[in-house]
Amino acid sequence: MRKMKFSIYRYNPETDSKPYYKDYEVELEDQDTKLLIALMKIKDFYDDSLSFRRSCREGVCGSDAINVNGRNGLACLMNLEELKQPVILRPIPGLPIIRDLIVDMTQFFNQYNSIKPYVIDDRPMPERERLQSPEDRQELNGVIECILCACCSTACPSFWWNPDKFLGPAALLHAYRFIADTRDQATSLRLDELNDPYRLFRCHTIMNCADVCPKHLNPTRAIGKIKELMVSRAV
Ligand code: SF4
Ligand code: SF4
Ligand code: FES
Repeated sequence: MRKMKFSIYRYNPETDSKPYYKDYEVELEDQDTKLLIALMKIKDFYDDSLSFRRSCREGVCGSDAINVNGRNGLACLMNLEELKQPVILRPIPGLPIIRDLIVDMTQFFNQYNSIKPYVIDDRPMPERERLQSPEDRQELNGVIECILCACCSTACPSFWWNPDKFLGPAALLHAYRFIADTRDQATSLRLDELNDPYRLFRCHTIMNCADVCPKHLNPTRAIGKIKELMVSRAV
């Protein structure tokens, strides 16, 4: 048994005139190793008004993205023993706050949807599935593992300043995922739609995105590859 101190951002727009931080000292069992477990204990035993999202608790659904001591991550993957106390918990930055640690993801998903996140291929359907070689499939590794948690986009200063114009690293990673997919026939259209001073080119290669991704993906690399493709088709 041990105790840990937390300071958590609280804001209920229906009852609070402004946000504030609330402190908790939480008793944890030895087997309580992850931050999400501590959050669930706080809600279950200390304060049932605390609001946060979570679902899978396995790093798969991407719903429990949170800012912990100034750094974005998934609560279910964060080891409590590595966190400096008091652990300061805030909503991921740059998106409107709905309540406590819950943000409005509409803008994030609008940007994701705008890159047409599906294979475009108007050719007649083959008798069986559209095939892809193992080598072509290899190019999608390090891209398709994205769980759309938004840790990267909400750590990106360019996305904070222009969330409606700059696509952000997550949507750009997915844009590259479909550009790189040999079954997709819309590469030219996709590059045309990205060729804009904001949508792609607001990325200044600060690398916050790759630094915080809990799945160890590298949106900066994908963004660089899109830029390379734009240059190579222009010459
Ligand atoms: S590398 Fe680009 S997308 Fe990633 S955090 Fe920096 S500006 Fe944002
Ligand atoms: S690239 Fe990583 S941080 Fe960004 S949304 Fe995908 S999984 Fe989350
Ligand atoms: S609860 Fe699903 S990723 Fe953490």
